[in-house]
Amino acid sequence: MLQALCTRHDGPRNKSGVTVAEKTVFEFAVSASSKAELYYDLHAALDALTADEPDPIANMANAAALIWQYLPDLNWSGFYRLVGSELVLGPFQGKPACIRIAIGAGVCGTAAVTRETQLVEDVHAFPGHIACDAASRSELVVPIVEYGRLIGVLDLDSPSPARFDAEDAAGCEALVRLLAPRITG
Ligand code: SME
Repeated sequence: MLQALCTRHDGPRNKSGVTVAEKTVFEFAVSASSKAELYYDLHAALDALTADEPDPIANMANAAALIWQYLPDLNWSGFYRLVGSELVLGPFQGKPACIRIAIGAGVCGTAAVTRETQLVEDVHAFPGHIACDAASRSELVVPIVEYGRLIGVLDLDSPSPARFDAEDAAGCEALVRLLAPRITG
């Protein structure tokens, strides 16, 4: 069950009359009793986190952190954004990663060029896989498309082989559908 509670304590106004948040606390009860429930709760939590925020970087940063916090067995969670003709590293959690990826290169570039989710059970068997962290064994990359325009990709890595299945793919695709209009600026 979902219990998404955002508690915000707004502090005094600054000289410009803008309210300065003294402390912002986000608490989410995300169930892990089943994968379906986990993704249902994650979707609701992501909705609550990003609904009123127009800044794309803030929304990608909180999405990457939320996924990192609640999806088990990840070693990387984050975004690559389409900038010009290549993918450029965006907000993420995990080890520092490759900064630029050509469209068509690696798992991320393949998701970008095909506009199809890439579910990779064994990254060593994926031709051209780009190893940002030698510990990665499986990967899920979801393209982010809004009104026919490629925005970037959501990339998740795991140190466990075959960590992701079709339910993860569908769950992350739903998260990306929710997020896409909130990260287009
Ligand atoms: N493995 C990805 C590169 C990005 S990192 O995993 C963060 C790829 O092959 O595109």
